[in-house]
Amino acid sequence: MAKIGNIDLGDFPLLLAPMEDVSDPPFRAVCKEGGADLMYTEFISSEGLIRDAVKSRQKLDIFEYERPIGIQLFGGDIGNMVQSAEIAAAVNPDLIDINYGCPVKAVACKGAGAALLQDIPKMVKMTEEIVKCTSLPVTVKTRLGWDDNSKNIVEVAERLQDIGIKALTVHGRTRVQMYKGSADWTLIARIKENPRMHIPIFGNGDIDSPQKALEYKNKYGVDGIMIGRAAIGYPWIFNEVKQYLKHGERPLPPDVAERIRVTKKHLDFSIRWKGDRLGIFEMRRHYTNYFKGMPDFKPYRTRLVEADNESEVNTILDEVSEKYAGIMVPTER
Ligand SMILES: Cc1cc2nc3c(=O)[nH]c(=O)nc-3n(C[C@H](O)[C@H](O)[C@H](O)COP(=O)(O)O)c2cc1C
Repeated sequence: MAKIGNIDLGDFPLLLAPMEDVSDPPFRAVCKEGGADLMYTEFISSEGLIRDAVKSRQKLDIFEYERPIGIQLFGGDIGNMVQSAEIAAAVNPDLIDINYGCPVKAVACKGAGAALLQDIPKMVKMTEEIVKCTSLPVTVKTRLGWDDNSKNIVEVAERLQDIGIKALTVHGRTRVQMYKGSADWTLIARIKENPRMHIPIFGNGDIDSPQKALEYKNKYGVDGIMIGRAAIGYPWIFNEVKQYLKHGERPLPPDVAERIRVTKKHLDFSIRWKGDRLGIFEMRRHYTNYFKGMPDFKPYRTRLVEADNESEVNTILDEVSEKYAGIMVPTER
């Protein structure tokens, strides 16, 4: 049973990864329906929150049905991180997550995200101050280390646990690796092997099928798995993994009607939450994934990404529904 503070996540929870420009409320709605047990907002800039920037503020929008939900923060200044944690706590999430993993230059070069992997004393201090400032559980998401020569996650995990974090998610890459190569979960297993560790340890990186989830669960002994990219355009992955872990069989992949139902739900929420223009624009990145594996889909995709109003998109989706009715879409996973 995995528990974060008092939040009971069940036996082997599946977490939806925080993903900038992806893990917004519309996407989270379809992932919740798809079986995600714990979800996070996209990372939110501590400075943005303090400045009351509209973009950062909007990322604090959370909904009752999303619970349990965590708000993820990033920043390089301890005082600002504490202040932003107080702002985030005021919207009453279930937990606050700190990002010590973001590798992109705009973040890491400002001393935030994965940059803290180069300054463990500061990371520990920052975490400690945030833990002290809120009664909510505080969790951390990070990577193995900065580079191959500093994969210090086993030691870091223990130090973070000692100052009071309630769960740790580790992406099995270093900062230098960015997203290249494959994720290495062996050090994640080493954290779990440490007899002093008692908080849940979640593994993350490259899980894209129920089979791989089962293999990694058994091989690395984690308390749960976080899934990111494989959920984009395929929110069914969570329930598929669950069924596979429970019964050893994967369900049939969603048929076209189901893909269209979920795409429409996602689109509808996008428009309601972001407005017509942005809602339609930001859905464009999802169509390829929702319809992956469908033969000769390209002309429809082109029309979908060119359509600029809701009824046009829905008309194209209805055409897709008719044209592909009854066709079994092979899953590539
Ligand atoms: C588009 C995109 C945006 C991301 N944004 C965040 C973020 O805001 N916060 C974070 O901790 N990780 C972020 N990540 C990293 C993911 O949470 C996850 O650690 C990574 O994708 C590896 O997991 P996966 O192989 O299951 O995708 C992002 C990844 C992607 C692909």
